[in-house]
Amino acid sequence: MASFSNLKYILLAGLLLFAFAGCQKNNPDRKISGGKPVTEDPHSFVPANGATVKHLELSLSVNFVGQTLNGWAEWTINPNKSDTLILDTRDLKIDAVYLNNDSNPVTFSVGKNDPVLGQALFIPIHEHTQKVKIVYQTSAQAAALQWLNPSQTKGKQLPFLYTQSQAILARSWIPCMDSPGIKFTYNAQIKVPANLMALMSAENDTVLHSNGLYHFSMPYPIPSYLMALTVGNLQYKSLGKNCGVYSEPETIKEAAFEFADMEKMVDAASSLYGPYAWGKYDAVVMPPSFPFGGMENPRLTFATPTIITHDRSLVALIAHELAHSWSGNLVTNKTWDDFWLNEGFTVYFENRIMEALYGKEYADMHEVIGYGELKKTLNEMGENNPNTALKQNLKGMDPDDAVNDIAYEKGRFFLLHIEKTVGRAQWDAFLKAYFEHYRFQSISTEDFLEFLNKKIVRGNKELLLKINAKEWVNNPSLPTNFPLITSNLLDEAKQLAITFSKGKPISIESTAKWHTFQWLHFLRSLPKKLSPAQLANLDHSFHFTNSNNAEILCDWFQLAIQNNYKPAYPAMENFLNTVGRRKFIQPLYALMKATGQTETALKIYKNARPGYHQVSSHTIDQILVSE
Ligand code: BES
Ligand code: ZN
Repeated sequence: MASFSNLKYILLAGLLLFAFAGCQKNNPDRKISGGKPVTEDPHSFVPANGATVKHLELSLSVNFVGQTLNGWAEWTINPNKSDTLILDTRDLKIDAVYLNNDSNPVTFSVGKNDPVLGQALFIPIHEHTQKVKIVYQTSAQAAALQWLNPSQTKGKQLPFLYTQSQAILARSWIPCMDSPGIKFTYNAQIKVPANLMALMSAENDTVLHSNGLYHFSMPYPIPSYLMALTVGNLQYKSLGKNCGVYSEPETIKEAAFEFADMEKMVDAASSLYGPYAWGKYDAVVMPPSFPFGGMENPRLTFATPTIITHDRSLVALIAHELAHSWSGNLVTNKTWDDFWLNEGFTVYFENRIMEALYGKEYADMHEVIGYGELKKTLNEMGENNPNTALKQNLKGMDPDDAVNDIAYEKGRFFLLHIEKTVGRAQWDAFLKAYFEHYRFQSISTEDFLEFLNKKIVRGNKELLLKINAKEWVNNPSLPTNFPLITSNLLDEAKQLAITFSKGKPISIESTAKWHTFQWLHFLRSLPKKLSPAQLANLDHSFHFTNSNNAEILCDWFQLAIQNNYKPAYPAMENFLNTVGRRKFIQPLYALMKATGQTETALKIYKNARPGYHQVSSHTIDQILVSE
């Protein structure tokens, strides 16, 4: 379906662009009041100190046949003495713009198209402008949207749609100030086909509306990257007070089993760092093409089905997305250069939730596994690579291409290091105060450091040296004062890998109660080069090729690729054709390329690509297609 309809919609989009070009003035160099715009966020056209947005009223109808969203966005603004409102857009077809309640449209213009940033939309405003209404339509190639055929869903009967706005894709479905430094509240009305349910990052209903009309309200300010919508054949199951899960009916039972500890997680998180601020917490299980493990859309985490393993072994992902309700959604990184404030804090917090629920041995494993991934990333990027500093400089880059374990793991270990330096009691009190102080704001790395100085260092020179924040934040690689981490359970797994690689018999019984992390550590501790007989032996003993745990599969397939172990390839091909989670598919394609198996990779990719979200296909294109 993809190639046919893509072509159809490319042609259609072309025609529409042509038809509407007459209404738009192309004006890339337009000046705004005050002269040359100073852009604070390198990934948005919105200038600093210009007009701002406060609230959004959104009305969209979801058209599965044409694969478009049609409707309008009305922004309540603060003109801030500016004569132009500048919004971010990407591939949007703007039909008309109205100010306040005027029935006559105003003449708007759009800037030059940038392949990553899209186009600025310039709207003339005046000091009395309070509302700006933009009537528009999304395009077939809207980067945030994935339109799924019924065949890509569990039920196989009905289509599915989801958005992925982070990092800078919200502008491809809503004309907005697409910077994490700008927050607004929203209400939305969404019209969908009568047999489908619509959910947003807002207050959601739990039942199907037979008229296909859904109303949403998000009364707390959020940044644009947390705007989210999904439409499909969805059902709800409560998981306790104030939380629950949505999924296709076919998987609702499994999902409810897997996420049974959700309420305990919310309670643990709240007692650590202050009350949950968003009312309800739900998750919705996405189809397997979802490009991420999870996305922390407020009140409604979007989660990959690859965490449904029937043994609850991958629920840390729910703890992670829930933790973002504080780190990220409440206190937000000001620009993507400060991304570690979102993800580093969240990995740290995720593991505190996990420790509260499942104990210290679990948390130790989480840290050692994270450290291994960090070392791997540092190896790949090069120890002196300036991009291995926590504070990034992503100007001129697509922030989505810079998502790696530096923000996540180096960020987490920086916080763990402070915890170990000052003690947990003081550190927890600090974090609680931090979330309280900056709630509903966006902050920079420097703001965090200032708060740290004020609340913890407090002029203590020795402590300043010990914490060594500047080195963690600004220098590449890892500082000398890295926290000490160990895990007995992982040592056990490593020992077994050593025994195996020496050709000695290994006891299968000893692995009966292993956690996923132990399997991963075992696989990662094996020699890179293994003989076909050794791989067959491993597979025979542990059934890796048939595992239903995507984390384990991904590691196993990497061993298979490295050693050209063909018996695992059909399962790998099937995996790559169903799962679109970038974290899993990226290393597999990259390793096939690195080991001279580009042809096999391309063959699989050709078939799998139409089923991937653009976030994933963009990354794989960079590996396989563009040289
Ligand atoms: N917010 C991220 C996903 C994301 C990051 C999307 C950057 C777009 C740009 C989400 O919270 C996340 O970190 N997901 C991880 C989960 C894991 C660390 C438990 C993932 O998808 O693997
Ligand atoms: Zn995250």
